[in-house]
Amino acid sequence: MKVFHLSVECYPVAKVGGLADVVGALPKYQTKLGWEAAVVMPWYDRPFVRDHAFSLVHEGTFYQGSELLSYGVYKEDHQVLGFELYLIKIPGKLDRQEVYCYPDEGEQFIAFQHAVLAWFKDKAIVPDIVHCHDHHVGLMPFLMKYSNDYNFLADVKTVATVHNGQYQGWTHWSKAILLPAFDSWKWGLLEWDGLINPLAALIKCCDAYTTVSEGYLEELYVEANGLQHLFYDERNKSIGIVNGIDWEIWDPKIDYTLFENYDVVQAFSGKLKNKEALAKQYKINPDRPLLVFIGRFATEKGADLLPEIILDLTEKYRDRLSIFILGAGDPAIQSRVKSLVDDGIDNFDVFFGYDENLAHWLYASADFLLMPSRVEPCGLNQLYAMKYGTLPIVHQVGGLKDTVIDLKNDGYGIGFDSLTITEISAAIVRAINFYDSKKQFEENQRKMMQLDFSWDKSAAKYISLYNQIM
Ligand code: ADP
Ligand code: GLC
Repeated sequence: MKVFHLSVECYPVAKVGGLADVVGALPKYQTKLGWEAAVVMPWYDRPFVRDHAFSLVHEGTFYQGSELLSYGVYKEDHQVLGFELYLIKIPGKLDRQEVYCYPDEGEQFIAFQHAVLAWFKDKAIVPDIVHCHDHHVGLMPFLMKYSNDYNFLADVKTVATVHNGQYQGWTHWSKAILLPAFDSWKWGLLEWDGLINPLAALIKCCDAYTTVSEGYLEELYVEANGLQHLFYDERNKSIGIVNGIDWEIWDPKIDYTLFENYDVVQAFSGKLKNKEALAKQYKINPDRPLLVFIGRFATEKGADLLPEIILDLTEKYRDRLSIFILGAGDPAIQSRVKSLVDDGIDNFDVFFGYDENLAHWLYASADFLLMPSRVEPCGLNQLYAMKYGTLPIVHQVGGLKDTVIDLKNDGYGIGFDSLTITEISAAIVRAINFYDSKKQFEENQRKMMQLDFSWDKSAAKYISLYNQIM
């Protein structure tokens, strides 16, 4: 049995967020369960691609509107990732450094999907399952069924995974000309609110859709940036499957990026050594508990609340806490955080940018991880934090609610229900007080590190979904 995952991100080739982590791990675990799993993604001008061996396995052409585009399919040679990896290169369209934010991004995604279809046709590839991740590849199930040239794939089953329903890929109808020719009677399947909506088309045309936690699925039925009725109407083909973590990469025992590796037994001392090393480089105090935020500066993540939270905490609990922020994104949020750094607040430091190794080091060094997300379809940060013995302090939404059980309910984390500064600060103060009861705090670290958020269970759920729809 063979599944092709289509995605614009995949760790370690191109990562912007958790989508990459999932697409870089799930196929590996599916392969272990006996399926052949491949990932197909755009070609990027990025270090992994430049430094690894790829072979050109196919070349072809197709028309995008009146423009004749050539594409090449490159296969990663050494199977170092634990699954087959294919990159599609289209000179002038899919050969750039960044994953997102080009003005012709919509055309890039259409070209990517068209190239995949053309390659499948030229090489007579008929997968058992095509698994589409997010709106960027949302037109695939429609095109597989209703395009004139590629409907030989009409019987292939398709699965959609919604990692983030906020973004839908809205495209003006004037761009319809760029799509491969399709049965015009079916145009309504592409449409939502007067636009081509790839996420809506994906949900309408796939055989099953999944969300990355059960809690997020329930939320999408009620509020999904305009698509809630669609998610609700199509609920019979939906299922929430929580993400896992790739223990080959995220394990403090073997993580080569850490200053000091540690296991469950020496969790507290191992973490302290990492924190002490961090304190040599950054303005934090290793004798105090360390609170970190790691993530995109976006309102979705509640990053706009950080400056107020920091001010509140540093005023009232100046002597009891260090804070470190790693992130980048919205310039307005960034400049407010920067002004706090410029004010020279004690025991507070920031790294603006994206740094994978520093993120690992922070999960290992920190005592608490803060996630004040407004929306969180799953969230991987809290899972990594727990694997590294770091107490998550989270807004109880989506996947955070599903994966972080509060200490009060016999769990292991701290949750808060509303996003007010008072509630968030109170949750952090609970964490500080808990840290002071050293024995229980350390016991809880060990408990978190032994929780099973592995991919084995979730990968098996995807496979049973595939079997069900086939
Ligand atoms: P999202 O995909 O919505 O950003 P997730 O929690 O699913 O959120 O995944 C975020 C991933 O990106 C995690 O692997 C996290 O460690 C990583 N990450 C986020 N921001 C940064 C950053 N500035 N530097 C390094 N890694 C980051
Ligand atoms: C999205 C979501 C995040 C989730 C990730 C991987 O980026 O915002 O919550 O963990 O996808 O599924």
